[in-house]
Amino acid sequence: MDCTSAKAERRRVRSRHRVLAFGVLATLVIGTGGGTVRRDGGAVPAADAVLAATERAAAPLPYLDPGLPVGKRVDDLIARMSLDDKLGQMTQPERRYITPAEITAHRIGSVLSSGGSAPSPNTPRSWADMYDGLQRAALAGRLRVPLMYGVDAVHGHNNVVGATIFPHNIGLGAARDPELVRRIGGATAREMAATGVDWNFAPCVCVVRNDRWGRTYESFGEVPGLASAMTTMIDGLQGEKLGAGPASVLATAKHYLGDGATQGGDDRGDARISEERLREIHLPPFRAAVRRGVGSVMVSYSSWNGVKLHEHRYLVTDVLKGELGFTGFVVSDYNGIDQIDGAPGFTRDEVAKAVNAGIDMVMVPEEWKKFIRYLRAEVGEGDVPMARIDDANRRILTKKFELGLFENPMADRRHLGSVGGAGHRALARGAVARSQVLLKNSQDVLPFGPAHDKIFVAGRSADDIGRQSGGWTVTWQGKPGGITPGTTILEGIREVAGPGVEVGYGRDGKGIDDSYDAAIAVVGEDPYAEYHGDRTGGLGLDDADVRTIERLRAADVPVIVVLVSGRPMDVAQRLPGWDALVAAWLPGTEGGGVADVLFGRSAPTGRLPVTWMSDADQQPINQGDGKKPLFPFGYGLTYG
Ligand code: BGC
Repeated sequence: MDCTSAKAERRRVRSRHRVLAFGVLATLVIGTGGGTVRRDGGAVPAADAVLAATERAAAPLPYLDPGLPVGKRVDDLIARMSLDDKLGQMTQPERRYITPAEITAHRIGSVLSSGGSAPSPNTPRSWADMYDGLQRAALAGRLRVPLMYGVDAVHGHNNVVGATIFPHNIGLGAARDPELVRRIGGATAREMAATGVDWNFAPCVCVVRNDRWGRTYESFGEVPGLASAMTTMIDGLQGEKLGAGPASVLATAKHYLGDGATQGGDDRGDARISEERLREIHLPPFRAAVRRGVGSVMVSYSSWNGVKLHEHRYLVTDVLKGELGFTGFVVSDYNGIDQIDGAPGFTRDEVAKAVNAGIDMVMVPEEWKKFIRYLRAEVGEGDVPMARIDDANRRILTKKFELGLFENPMADRRHLGSVGGAGHRALARGAVARSQVLLKNSQDVLPFGPAHDKIFVAGRSADDIGRQSGGWTVTWQGKPGGITPGTTILEGIREVAGPGVEVGYGRDGKGIDDSYDAAIAVVGEDPYAEYHGDRTGGLGLDDADVRTIERLRAADVPVIVVLVSGRPMDVAQRLPGWDALVAAWLPGTEGGGVADVLFGRSAPTGRLPVTWMSDADQQPINQGDGKKPLFPFGYGLTYG
């Protein structure tokens, strides 16, 4: 037992003793019927009455007793809850659309920050203040049930300015290192815990089958084995078990099921595949996540053969909860229930369908009052059975108890120093280096060595934290520029090259001449997230990037292209003109890791987590489908 868990154990035992002591006194008093009238009918003397009242007030109710098993606490709490208490627990509004007073009044179970929704100023401390304020509001409710606060910390605690931003999942899939991913989960949990946030809508264990999909980079790769292996992220986030360890937050496996299988890579589209394929390719990572005890599962916006997952009782209840034995709770996606009937907004029927399908908590950012009203009416008319409401509450409350929220509801500010701290940044830099995939290296132009004392760097992504971090960074879509502290790839190159190497820089390639020993073009995609990143046309480089590379080539020096993108790009036609190609994916704030590989401080060991097309028209292209790729799944060179 480490020192933290020993402390936790001591705390548990101490409070158990306190509770037992209260329990004896409480039985003496409450055993008389809890009133001021004695069993013999006589009035209790005044002093006794005061004592009785004091003890009654002090006696913890069973569900507040940390010494009791979670199941008993849940039973006790549920027995005390009214229908409105229960409906509140199942409701998750967005922070911008609810006040603390409303949280208290409506017994709200959870609040979320959608991508980029942050307190002002956006600092770790003001996140903690915001969280504590909302938590106090929840605890002011009659039953003192704490809330859970959810965010998408999909590559570090990415809504928070100053947090460590790790590579997006596609890069971690390239790194092929489950233990590294577990440590990243642990670091993310610590940064989250510092700000109070106790629930992460991650990891995405989606299996991308078409790189046109705007969420390709949220996937660890195109085969189920990769996402299954990387469910170690859940261990890192939750700890050995929920509530144990220095920081533990609830993880979410998402998006259930088949989000990476949609036709045309259409985010929120339809996966037209057989049940056999669905089970073979898309279900295994969820099975792995459930085995690791993932606390929640988020349902996908997408459909399976024309039926929305948000109404899919067979997949949500029979397969996930039944067959896979998932005992956590299922959360809907943001306004996900609105899309069941295809029309804007949601109806009573959609509410009933979603809850009856097995969704336990509903993410209703704005119209949460309407949701509560509709669900109350559906329960009243018997369209949603009370047993379903109780089951949803049981699942949600179990996780709150396991997280230790009833005992430690407030932000753990001891971790504030870890947010964007040196240790986490070093971990991220190592992960960046591990995720680089060397795809071409003519005449061993890489790594740079003593023969390279004058290097030119160009490209829109060379000196830009926002572009190298991609979507889900400070804002939902992400954006170019100095959006959060970090080391750009150019800065990393300068640092690793050291004072003995002259590093020239021109964003668009201007300033290069043949006096340089080599040129690096850092180019790629603009940031995007979700359906904004869906691409129906070509997947080639932007014209500006092509022009930059051409300028470098015209100087007649070896040209190394570093591609900063969330997916493979259509480069086959241009590749013969480049001396080297490195897929850097979306590395996050620690650009030094890219430089470490370019200069041979770390040998490249990353391997393609997806098949690299020869032509955009080949999409979808995946291992084993008989198409001829530019680079096969698993490809990656290293230094000789
Ligand atoms: C996304 C989810 C995300 C949710 C909450 C949705 O738009 O599809 O992945 O967890 O928003 O931010």
